[in-house]
Amino acid sequence: MHHDIAIIGAGAAGMMCAAVAGQRGLRVVLIEHAARVGEKIRISGGGRCNFTNARAGPQHFVSRQPGFARDVLSRYTPRDFAALVRRYRIAHHEKHKGQLFCDGSSQQIIDMLRAECELGRVQWLQPCGVRGVAREGSGFRLETDQGPLQARRVVVATGGLPVPKIGATDYGLRLARQMGLQVVSPQPALVPLAFAAEPWRPFAELAGVALEVRVACGGQHFDEDLLFTHRGLSGPAILQISSFWNPGDSLRLDLSPGNDLGEALWLAKLQSRQSLLNALGQFLPRRLAQTWVEMQRLPSDRRIAELADAKLKALGASLCAWTLQPTGTEGWRKAEVMRGGVDTAELHPATLEAHKVPGLHFIGEVVDVTGWLGGYNFQWAWASGYAVGMSV
Ligand code: FDA
Repeated sequence: MHHDIAIIGAGAAGMMCAAVAGQRGLRVVLIEHAARVGEKIRISGGGRCNFTNARAGPQHFVSRQPGFARDVLSRYTPRDFAALVRRYRIAHHEKHKGQLFCDGSSQQIIDMLRAECELGRVQWLQPCGVRGVAREGSGFRLETDQGPLQARRVVVATGGLPVPKIGATDYGLRLARQMGLQVVSPQPALVPLAFAAEPWRPFAELAGVALEVRVACGGQHFDEDLLFTHRGLSGPAILQISSFWNPGDSLRLDLSPGNDLGEALWLAKLQSRQSLLNALGQFLPRRLAQTWVEMQRLPSDRRIAELADAKLKALGASLCAWTLQPTGTEGWRKAEVMRGGVDTAELHPATLEAHKVPGLHFIGEVVDVTGWLGGYNFQWAWASGYAVGMSV
């Protein structure tokens, strides 16, 4: 069988690329090894798929080569994808900081992409694994579970390593290495962070407590919600900063952003007869305030007026600059995306074609371009799929 393009992986990027290339009249075969397509789309956004972010720009992506995504992102924007969603009459809404979600179900996005593939007369091989890819003449020969096939070009859209139980594999990374391309070490990202059991014990009891914080690490900071868990910290603030955290780094947390708590407690001392716990409770969830005061060995029920100014200042400062060192992440099982992947230095910034292997392209999460939390990763999947679908 001869095809213009063989695409490996029918996820977000692969289906987009197949639809675009097929609708340009190219003979496209889309190969997926899992029993269901678009599984990550299905489980995304709590089942409602945060399908893009209206504010997405190159600054929202992490890569060894910052700004690499600029060209691709500029040619297919969040507005373009939102227009496609509207064409299919999929009701949606903006939730938080530009995040666009389906009102109904993420299945609507999968159905839309399948319909777009239909329009492009895309041929499906599914379920069908790819066992090998090799150069043959001016194209490629693929060994698949359903026999060999030839294609002029191959597009690798196998995604990242998170959630292996729904189909994630390292096949794209192995193929890249086999073809002599560099791979930036893959790490779990947008992932909860864990702490050593013993020092974490007092905080483990706070599991379920959430509050808005400022978290900083690796030259980046986010103002978002944080969630205490039994093993560590989660919530959007932590998922975001996890993409900038490396083993050995410390996090710096301001548990009451926008407030100088030392000053606020000193004022409370002058103006009221309340207890320390009640004073702190105006700025923090009460359970957290209680734990914090106990850890500082301060008497929570004493009137704030009885505490020395220096103690109040130190207490306030400790809450505004809590420094703590995670021991690791919660790993691939809990990560939303993979950081790292095929080194962008190996790829043309407009066509995502490997410089060393003409005709071989990489799109989506398998590439070392990782979006922040909030619809950015799908936008990269759509835009990179579109870029290659249009360029081949
Ligand atoms: P994707 O993973 O979508 O597709 C890869 C496909 O390749 C899969 O179908 C896989 O089975 C297939 N495959 C793998 N190896 C193969 C092989 N050897 N042969 C054949 N097929 C193979 N992002 C966002 O922007 N908004 C959101 O709301 C969310 N929410 C979210 C929730 C959860 C729980 C997770 C885990 C992830 C998200 N994401 C997200 C991230 C988003 O899902 C992800 O970045 C995109 O799906 C990446 O698209 P790709 O097409 O690159 O990979």
